[in-house]
Amino acid sequence: MNPHDIRSQFPFFSAHPDIVYLDNAATTQKPNGVIDSIANFYKTHNANAGRGSYPLARNLTNEIEHVRKQTQVFLNAKNVEEIFFTFGATDSFNKITSSISFFYLEDGDEVLYCSQDHQSFVLPWISMQQILQQLGKTIHLIPLRVKKTGSIDRDDLYKKITNKTKVVNITHIHNMYGSDNDIRDIKNHLPNKVILTVDATQSIGHMPVDVQALGCDILSFSGHKMFASQGVGVTYIEKRLHDILPPVWIGGGDGATLADNTMHLNHYTRAFESGTQHYAGILSLGSAISFLESIGLETIHRHLAFLTQELVKRLREIPDVEFAYGPAYWSCYDGYGIVSFRLRSLPSTEAGFLLGEQRIYVRTGTHCLANPTEDTIRVSMHVYNTMEDIERFVNALNSLLSS
Ligand code: ALA
Repeated sequence: MNPHDIRSQFPFFSAHPDIVYLDNAATTQKPNGVIDSIANFYKTHNANAGRGSYPLARNLTNEIEHVRKQTQVFLNAKNVEEIFFTFGATDSFNKITSSISFFYLEDGDEVLYCSQDHQSFVLPWISMQQILQQLGKTIHLIPLRVKKTGSIDRDDLYKKITNKTKVVNITHIHNMYGSDNDIRDIKNHLPNKVILTVDATQSIGHMPVDVQALGCDILSFSGHKMFASQGVGVTYIEKRLHDILPPVWIGGGDGATLADNTMHLNHYTRAFESGTQHYAGILSLGSAISFLESIGLETIHRHLAFLTQELVKRLREIPDVEFAYGPAYWSCYDGYGIVSFRLRSLPSTEAGFLLGEQRIYVRTGTHCLANPTEDTIRVSMHVYNTMEDIERFVNALNSLLSS
């Protein structure tokens, strides 16, 4: 794989050849295929799916169902009915958390979670705990420990499982630590009644994500970190949960109807997609999947592992660097493109501003963590990043520190 060839498919880099873009965990740039799918939709076949019987509307319905099938295959889900589209990962997490809270949890039940995870994955639980309290139901949110490697301490997790545990809420790859949680091993330790929900926003598009191999019950992600449009997301929900977890938010479309003053779910997956969806976004997701598959997820993972390790190596040579949790503490040669650190002599946000002046874009601050403990500089890379990007970044950092 040649990242320079891949870069040539991204108009952003032709427009800004001098930018070193290292903020891919915030959002990725978009390849031509994705941009074209959005533009073509609005230029030539804009309609509302799942409603009209005229050809334009029927064709869009078929195209959306095609992307659903593509997503099923991409995730290796058993059944196409296990996939629903959302408006992004935050929307996915809120839909799932509210459904589990209202329809599955009982008074006194426990949810294991990590308070150092992304806000969108944690705050819906805090919010639901408060709402349920008002309704007279108490649920307990049990925090998990994180090791220096950035992964959940699995021994701690396994000790915290009780007969009240109903949900384990785990991030696949962490958005600041760039660390991997062994979802399969966690699943193997859980009793059947425990729902394992996974945030895959930072793993999707960076490595193969196979829901059957992982063994997760529910997995969600957004499109925009895997080259698709912003404002679109996906949730996978295993079929055995369909009778247990109906949607809380409901509306137009063919997912549900009213008869004798009672709501009936006609179509489980589409009930979660009530209302007019972000069809351009869903189509862009299909294009993004095709783009990723044309390169190969294993190939992308190997490229990111290489860049991660090279960056850690170069940063180790700078005495001012203090690594945050993550790949600097790993003993194996791997990586998912994320390295976070702080400088002893310069606040992270100031460094981010000064790097930005040199057209080197990284994220600084607390990276949307629910319970942040520190400000860091985060470098997040993807398939179009190169060793030259790392060189320019490290050289710029060194010149900031020497000035
Ligand atoms: N979740 C995005 C990030 O980590 C916005 O930067």
